[in-house]
Amino acid sequence: MDNIIFEKKLNQYIDYINNRLSEILSIEYPPKIYEAMRYSVFAGGKRLRPILAIMSCEMLGGNKEEIIDFACALEMIHTYSLIHDDLPAMDNDDFRRGAPTCHKKFDEATAILAGDALLNKAYEVMIDNVILKKEEKFQKAMKYISDAAGVKGMIGGQVIDVISEGKKIDSDTLLYIHKNKTAALITAPLKAGGIIGGMSDDEIKLMEKAGENIGIAFQIKDDILDVTSTTEVLGKPVFSDEKNDKITYVTMFGIEKAEKDLKILMDDALGIIDGFGEKSKFLYEYIKKLVSRIK
Ligand code: IPE
Ligand code: IPE
Ligand code: MG
Ligand code: MG
Ligand code: MG
Repeated sequence: MDNIIFEKKLNQYIDYINNRLSEILSIEYPPKIYEAMRYSVFAGGKRLRPILAIMSCEMLGGNKEEIIDFACALEMIHTYSLIHDDLPAMDNDDFRRGAPTCHKKFDEATAILAGDALLNKAYEVMIDNVILKKEEKFQKAMKYISDAAGVKGMIGGQVIDVISEGKKIDSDTLLYIHKNKTAALITAPLKAGGIIGGMSDDEIKLMEKAGENIGIAFQIKDDILDVTSTTEVLGKPVFSDEKNDKITYVTMFGIEKAEKDLKILMDDALGIIDGFGEKSKFLYEYIKKLVSRIK
């Protein structure tokens, strides 16, 4: 696909997502909390999860208006996880999305509450959709997303990540961390988008497999960038993992194997996406570019 066409289409998706996020997060009382929520959401961010949700929905001819609120819910859950991940009690980082972290810009109490508020808002938006549109597919989408955000997903991964600091963990534990803290919230948009876009149970299973591989690969790349990039490019501090004495894919296996394995995982996922034929082209290109992402 022509690169200019690709970038143009990608920016259209991002604008669409940002416009809806801005509506959802319009400032009400008390303004302070909305300011903090908006600060972190609009600081930047690739919008990976909502983009995956919309692309997956459209792949079998689904309508993006049907998935947009779930896509925004995913971005709000993701942003809350970043705000809390950066807190002094967790990774203690001062920079995120090219700007001071929420607790640095405001204060810790505001950052905790802004995270809580974003998480809650995500559920408010999803349940409004489920109530309004009576079809079962919306309930299923909400179920996929809430399962992925919980202890059997992102939170579980964060728990093991944090309690493993300073410890020698084995590769199964590292895989558990990658699968849960990161891959869960990358699989969920592919499944939620797929179900709303009309995928069968078998097709959803394929998306689950692809999502898991993309998610693990995405975290391997994040671990690589933590030691190879710069704060300016990344928009967040480099060497955060070393500072927190975390075992990452890079410290466990070395950069070379990390690069190799991430490519294998991505190729496997691309094979699955390719199997969906012509309509999967854009998602295919988007995922392919994640391998060489620089931030
Ligand atoms: C960062 O996610 C946290 C990880 C799971 C690696 P992203 O790299 O998607 O961060 P943003 O949304 O672009 O800021
Ligand atoms: C965090 O992983 C994943 C989340 C669920 C937030 P990291 O701690 O490696 O993410 P970054 O590097 O701070 O973005
Ligand atoms: Mg972390
Ligand atoms: Mg972190
Ligand atoms: Mg990281």
